[in-house]
Amino acid sequence: MPEPRLLVFVCNFCSYGGADKAGGLRLDYPAGARLVRVMCSGRVDPQLVLHGFRAGADGVLILGCHPGDCHFKEGNHHAARRAALLATLLGQFGIEPERFAIDWVSAGEGERLQRVVTEMYDRLATMPRLQLARQRPAPMAQPEPGPRPGSVRP
Ligand code: FES
Repeated sequence: MPEPRLLVFVCNFCSYGGADKAGGLRLDYPAGARLVRVMCSGRVDPQLVLHGFRAGADGVLILGCHPGDCHFKEGNHHAARRAALLATLLGQFGIEPERFAIDWVSAGEGERLQRVVTEMYDRLATMPRLQLARQRPAPMAQPEPGPRPGSVRP
C-alpha cells in the first residue's frame, strides 16, 4: 500500500520550533509528513486546507502555539474555531473528518511534535488513499424528448 501523504502546517513561532527541536533530538517522524511553515496557525485559511486535499494530501494537520501563547494573541483561537467549522463541512467534499486535525506544539516540545504527527500519520495509514482527483460528478441524465408543444400524438 502506498504511503499516505500528510500536509502539516506549522506556525513559525512555536510548532516550527518544535519540529526544529525534534530534529535536534534526532527524533524522526514519517517521511510522508510534509511540513509547511506559516506565520501563525490563524493564517491557515480553510481554502488552504481544501487546496491541500485537492493537491493530493491524504490528511491535513494544523499545528500552532498552545492557547494563550500565540504571538498574534488570538490567531490560534481563530484557527480552532475555523477548524471546528471546517471539520463539519469536509464530508460534503467527500473527505472523512478524521483526515483533518488541529493541535498545539510549543517550540520546546520536540517529542510532542513527533507524537502528534506520527499518530495522525498512523491513522491515515489505516485508511484508504483519498481519491478526490479521480472523483468526477456523474453526468447528468438527459431528459427524454417529449412531445413538442402543440403536436398531437396518434
Ligand atoms: Fe503560533 Fe499564532 S503564532 S499559533
